[in-house]
Amino acid sequence: MSRVPLVVLVGPMGVGKSTVGQLLAERLGVAYRDTDDDIVAAQGRTIAEIFVDEGEAAFRALEKQAVHTALADHDGVVALGGGAILDADTRALLAGQRVVYLSMDVEEAVKRTGLNAARPLLAVNPRKQWRELMEARRSLYEEVATAVVPTDGRTPEEVTQAALDALELKEA
Ligand code: S3P
Repeated sequence: MSRVPLVVLVGPMGVGKSTVGQLLAERLGVAYRDTDDDIVAAQGRTIAEIFVDEGEAAFRALEKQAVHTALADHDGVVALGGGAILDADTRALLAGQRVVYLSMDVEEAVKRTGLNAARPLLAVNPRKQWRELMEARRSLYEEVATAVVPTDGRTPEEVTQAALDALELKEA
């Protein structure tokens, strides 16, 4: 059976998609799913290990599969890995869905992700890499989003409330 997620969360790594996604799912009384977790469970390896072992292109192929499965399978809240929107087929699948883009500025991003070795794309010179990533991706996040929720200086609870308000969704 084909389902449609109630809410899809997109945005850069470290913006709080998992934390906010779980809070949002709780408030809406639905299940939470995270496509990075699906990949790790299916592969029995961490994301960093997949990048090191097989490279980014191989990871993106696994990610595309995981995202397409989750979007067809899950009717709760689903959070996508930060780079999932790089894929044009994935962006097309998101058209017409309820998609929240969690955004943050560069200083907040470096604060939250700078020293996190589990994120291979930011391992060296995080500020510069994050700027470059966002230059390439900002318009793609905006393209798929039905709502943009800034997270700077907000707690996860405040971000969750802002997402509920923006979507005008009723709580469980
Ligand atoms: C990536 C984001 C990560 C993970 C991988 C690549 C990206 O997910 O998929 O490290 O390209 O932005 P999170 O956004 O959940 O950290």
